[in-house]
Amino acid sequence: MARFPTKRGKQKARTKQKKYHYMKSIAIIYGSSTEHTKNAAERMAELLADYNPTLSDIYDGDEEPFLTHDVLILGVSTWGVQDLQDDWNDFYPKLEKLDLKGKTVALFGLGDASIYPSSFVDAMGILYEILAEKGVTFIGEVPTDGYDFEYSRAVVDDKFVGLPLDDDYEPDLTEERIINWVEQLKPHLG
Ligand SMILES: Cc1cc2nc3c(=O)[nH]c(=O)nc-3n(C[C@H](O)[C@H](O)[C@H](O)COP(=O)(O)O)c2cc1C
Repeated sequence: MARFPTKRGKQKARTKQKKYHYMKSIAIIYGSSTEHTKNAAERMAELLADYNPTLSDIYDGDEEPFLTHDVLILGVSTWGVQDLQDDWNDFYPKLEKLDLKGKTVALFGLGDASIYPSSFVDAMGILYEILAEKGVTFIGEVPTDGYDFEYSRAVVDDKFVGLPLDDDYEPDLTEERIINWVEQLKPHLG
C-alpha cells in the first residue's frame, strides 16, 4: 500500500475540497400579500436549482434560514409609504435582533410604478436600511434605466439597491428581469 497520496488521489482530494469549500448556501425568503413576491421567489428558486436554495415565507416567522445560510435573497412588496409588507412587519422584532454580520444579501421588491410612482418599491429601501446597519454585504444592485417612476426610497447612489419588479404595470417584463438578475448574482454565489 502506498504510504503517500498518489497524484490522482491528491487531485481528487483537491476537487472535493474545491467543491465543498466554495459552494455557498442560499436562502430565498419572501413576504407577500397577494402572491406576486411569492411567485417571483419561486421562479428564482427554479433558476437557482443547481445551488439547492431553501425557500421560505417570512409569514412563518422562522429565523433559522437567516442564520444557517451564507447568501440571503430577500423579497418584499410595498404597501404604502413608510411600511414594510405586513408579514415582514410582524417579523421585524426578530429581525432587529438577528446577528447577520458577514452575510451576503440580495434584495428584490414588488411594487407598482403606475399608481404609486412616488413610493415605488419603497419597502425594498426600508429593508435595505435595516440590514445596512447589520454589516451585511449587498449584491444585485440594478440601474434605474427602464423604470418609469418619480421617487423610490430603494434608490441609493442612483441605483436600485436590488431588483424592482412590477407585476401590476409591467408584468411582461418580470420574467426577463428575473432571469437577468439571477445571472448577475451567480458570480457571487460560488
Ligand atoms: C393599498 C395598496 C398600496 C400600495 N402601495 C404601493 C406603494 O406605495 N409603492 C409601490 O411600489 N407599490 C404599492 N402597491 C403595489 C403592490 O406593492 C403590488 O401590487 C405588489 O405586486 C404586491 O405584491 P405581493 O402580492 O407580493 O404583496 C400598493 C398596492 C395596494 C393595493
